[in-house]
Amino acid sequence: MVEPPSPEPLAPAPDRQGVGGAPPGVPGEEPPGDPSAVALAGVSFAWPGGRPVFEGLDLRLATGERLFISGPSGSGKSTLLGLVAGILTPTAGDIEIGGRALSRLSGPARDRLRGDDVGYIFQQFNLVPYLSALDNALLPCGFSKVRRRRALAAAASPAEAAGDLLARLGIPRELWARKAARLSVGQQQRVAAARALVGSPPLLIADEPTSALDEETGLAFLKLLLKECARAEASLMFVSHDSRLAGEFGRRFTLTGRGGGDSPPGG
Ligand SMILES: Nc1ncnc2c1ncn2[C@@H]1O[C@H](COP(=O)(O)OP(=O)(O)OP(=O)(O)O)[C@@H](O)[C@H]1O
Ligand SMILES: [Mg+2]
Repeated sequence: MVEPPSPEPLAPAPDRQGVGGAPPGVPGEEPPGDPSAVALAGVSFAWPGGRPVFEGLDLRLATGERLFISGPSGSGKSTLLGLVAGILTPTAGDIEIGGRALSRLSGPARDRLRGDDVGYIFQQFNLVPYLSALDNALLPCGFSKVRRRRALAAAASPAEAAGDLLARLGIPRELWARKAARLSVGQQQRVAAARALVGSPPLLIADEPTSALDEETGLAFLKLLLKECARAEASLMFVSHDSRLAGEFGRRFTLTGRGGGDSPPGG
């Protein structure tokens, strides 16, 4: 298993614009040049002492595109998400998010990019157990001024934006004050989705977010997630073992253990 990265940077991030909108002259920022939401070119990666997980992997995700990613256990799905989020560093090749090359950013700038522009739903959700559902969903707006500003464009306050998301994802108001540790698994998953979506990050990453759910609940959750992604105009990288969910996506990318490629969504 890939170590679950911290979902957001630990310190408040300086203000900056979103993907494709970096102003000129900001230190550590690349001017936008590539309109793809995500672009991997010739990416190789091996864990220390291990055989390569990827060799020369190419993958492009257009803005607003939704990609279903599958492959056997150990084929590198979580590793791929870690690379895209800038938590892992490729041994060769380039990764760009919204036209910005991760390799050209300092560690703190990569953390900021992730905090501002990437919503990450972890397989085990990584909610803060002693915080309420609402405070968990609000967290990214505390870490990122950009997310806070985008939330304020959608609602009167970040808390209202987080509450609206919780409600749309099926968490009723009477549960908003309940500590995350006292929610059901399905409810925790919805809170994790609200946290990933608050402040409309342009890229959403989801690592097997339906694995703890039965088929019907998993599909219903995915449909809600896709609806919220469309509302936020976010691109989506969605990892799942469950091929039945692939029909909801326009494109499927299958990892094989040494790389990957496109395959029919229904296949
Ligand atoms: N922290 C780590 N240190 C060393 N090797 C790792 C680490 N995390 C994963 N690996 C190895 O990298 C390869 C890819 O692992 P990864 O977790 O990306 O697979 P996966 O496709 O997400 O699998 P699963 O479906 O079981 O979640 C595996 O061979 C795994 O053993
Ligand atoms: Mg995995």
